[in-house]
Amino acid sequence: MLEVSDLHLKIGDALILNGVSFSAQAGDSIGIIGPNGSGKTTLFNCLSGFVLPFQGSVSLRGENITHTPPYLRAELGVGRVFQSFGIFREMTVLENLVVALESRAGVLRTFFPWSTTSRMIRAQAKEFAAQVKLDGKLSQRAGMLSGGQMRLLEIVRALAFGAEVFLLDEPTAGVSPKMKDEVAALISHVQTLGKTTLIIEHDINFVQSFSKRVLVLDQGRVILDDSPENVRKNDLLREIYFGK
Ligand SMILES: Nc1ncnc2c1ncn2[C@@H]1O[C@H](COP(=O)(O)OP(=O)(O)OP(=O)(O)O)[C@@H](O)[C@H]1O
Ligand SMILES: [Mg+2]
Repeated sequence: MLEVSDLHLKIGDALILNGVSFSAQAGDSIGIIGPNGSGKTTLFNCLSGFVLPFQGSVSLRGENITHTPPYLRAELGVGRVFQSFGIFREMTVLENLVVALESRAGVLRTFFPWSTTSRMIRAQAKEFAAQVKLDGKLSQRAGMLSGGQMRLLEIVRALAFGAEVFLLDEPTAGVSPKMKDEVAALISHVQTLGKTTLIIEHDINFVQSFSKRVLVLDQGRVILDDSPENVRKNDLLREIYFGK
């Protein structure tokens, strides 16, 4: 499904990714951990096309997408949830979802708001909003939502857009404990739909509950790629996180 091979990436003179390789099958759930600055977010930027590697490749379903621009990767099913919130803050909750559904259907934005397609899309958008209990806030500006609600909206928007691979960068960062449970439930739902999930998280317990496999990044390299149980037991992890 997703094949990442020997990614090398520089920002300025600094080598940020230093030969990252791994693969994910459809429906895989992979956790990504590693110290601050180890290149996790940069790896996601590379997978979604915001930065380009100088060596190595990314392919999706056998197609080489290493140099494919971000919007085309999104159309191919790479969905991204940002470490800082990536929703359209100036738009309402409903508009955030309508835009995703319209792009997916290739419809021009509210050109004919009274058309059947437009009404269908609005109805679908409301269903997606209801999935994350935001149907009571359809006309609220998304930037006014709580951190947890923004996160839920961002994930459900990727679902609405038809994402197959979910790149979730610290999905529970800045989210209250109660909302954390809701974000967790939504991620489970995404996984039961058979989507591939890559989740960056610092909380190893959270990683363990959502991932069958864990990659540990350190200084731009994958230093462990194993089951959560084995990663937990591995001394290398303690070493890089706590300096032993
Ligand atoms: N736009 C940029 N300009 C300069 N340096 C950058 C830029 N983006 C990332 N870096 C550097 O690249 C390295 C990796 O950053 P990255 O954000 O990928 O780490 P991370 O593993 O996601 O860290 P965190 O756990 O803190 O989110 C860091 O040293 C960072 O300073
Ligand atoms: Mg990061």
